[in-house]
Amino acid sequence: MVVGKIALFSPPMQRIAVFTSGGDAPGMNAHVRAVERTAQKRGLEVIGIIGGYAGMIAGHYEVLDRIRTANILDRGGTVLKTSRCEEFHKPEGRAKAVEQLRKHGIDGVVACGGDGTFHGAHFLAKEHGVRIVGTPGTIDNDLWGTDFTIGYDTAINTAAQAIDKIRDTADSHGRLFFVEVMGRHAGFIAVDVGVACGAEYIAVPETMTDIEVLYQRIMAQGLHKRTVVIVGEGDQSGGAMQLARRIEDAYGIGSKVSILGHMQRGGAPTVRDRVLAARLGAAAVDALLDGHTNVMIGEHNGDIAFVPLEQTWNQRKSVPPYLLDLATLLV
Ligand code: F6P
Repeated sequence: MVVGKIALFSPPMQRIAVFTSGGDAPGMNAHVRAVERTAQKRGLEVIGIIGGYAGMIAGHYEVLDRIRTANILDRGGTVLKTSRCEEFHKPEGRAKAVEQLRKHGIDGVVACGGDGTFHGAHFLAKEHGVRIVGTPGTIDNDLWGTDFTIGYDTAINTAAQAIDKIRDTADSHGRLFFVEVMGRHAGFIAVDVGVACGAEYIAVPETMTDIEVLYQRIMAQGLHKRTVVIVGEGDQSGGAMQLARRIEDAYGIGSKVSILGHMQRGGAPTVRDRVLAARLGAAAVDALLDGHTNVMIGEHNGDIAFVPLEQTWNQRKSVPPYLLDLATLLV
């Protein structure tokens, strides 16, 4: 599907920029490297914007070349840094950003991040005609239109390793554990690691968490037996702490709580994340050259997908229900 193409009479591109924004995700560096290498091969100059939208406004721009992007593809975090930028939410902030893009002669932009990043990119395209494509970079995997986001595979492997360790101690002591994983709006991380780690219960925002069902599950496992409950941070219960408290208040059952938190965002990207990041980086540059704008460059069923940015947040990507059923079946 081709959407959001710019007018054919637009001048040819000479210089593009790439930036990372919102929560960092493992694989962002491999992505930046792929954008830089592809752009150079296509005869384009590449600028890295440092610090996400805040850096775009402040004018923190830096030339990227082979040397600058060498030895970064296996590193976690983002060498371009990132931010959550309040100023960019206002039209005046965006106008300042566009002024800087013009000043630095930027003809096209690759914006790697999650839904906040895509909202910003959409406004740049819509309000100011900036030629911009988004690439999905978030551990949450919650963007519609792409099967996976850059960083998700690493995050679930990191979380699974941590939960395996928690299972060891939970098993030794015969304890009930509530383990909270990230995922602000969606339970992708929770369901995948829940199945991978044999959780006794998985609480996610997509389904109602029934305290009575949870209690029955804990009792079926047996008090003083290892029981691991995975809680997605966006669950309506309010998170692992609150759920543990409710079980204690209602049934007098004590437990331990472990919140995995930001460790899920760090570390070297997995091979899958590096390959996805590389493929989408190359595709993003070619999409810009091909005239695409205001679209996400994702991957769907093995093919590159061009998805209007608005659709990535207007349509809800849901966790596969079969995974929740599978987790219940295998308890
Ligand atoms: O990047 C996504 C995410 O990790 C969410 O899972 C989490 O809710 C959020 O970012 C945390 O953001 P911050 O680091 O800004 O507190």
